[in-house]
Amino acid sequence: MAEHRVIERMLAVLEDQLGVIAEARSVDSGLIDTATDFIRTYADRCHHGKEEDILFLRLADKPLDDELAEAMAGLVEDHVRGRLMTRKLIEANNRYRSGDASALSEIESCLRDLIEFYPVHIAKEDRHFFKPCLEYFTDAEQQTMLADFDEFDRALIHEKYRGIVENLERSAE
Ligand SMILES: [Fe+2]
Ligand SMILES: [Fe+2]
Repeated sequence: MAEHRVIERMLAVLEDQLGVIAEARSVDSGLIDTATDFIRTYADRCHHGKEEDILFLRLADKPLDDELAEAMAGLVEDHVRGRLMTRKLIEANNRYRSGDASALSEIESCLRDLIEFYPVHIAKEDRHFFKPCLEYFTDAEQQTMLADFDEFDRALIHEKYRGIVENLERSAE
């Protein structure tokens, strides 16, 4: 839930930027790069990663009631939708950077989609999902999960920057 609060701060920044874009009828592609890196690395890999690879995976071993199992499937679908929106934004930003001014309205609509999508997704988890989930885990399981979240986070910066080096190596070949 603490990570949700950070994601909300980025959404507020992006909402402000929508106003700036509307007024200027142009966009700073570098800012969109920074925002999409945040969404991909922090909101998706780091945050959704811990949800999917640790929490949801362990919940799948529990005798979940139907409502919670359905909610979990819906959250996974949301993550997929979020990834598609982000990919569309990255593609539109690349087109805009290479001189296609018509990509601006696509950037605006992708930003609007993301700004609408995340708060709804976050509210589902904060209000209806995380707390009932915890009841399926013993205190010891919860402690193990917290330690595994920490280990996941610890490994992430290495994964990220190793990937950057590998991409640069590939493009230099
Ligand atoms: Fe999520
Ligand atoms: Fe979340």
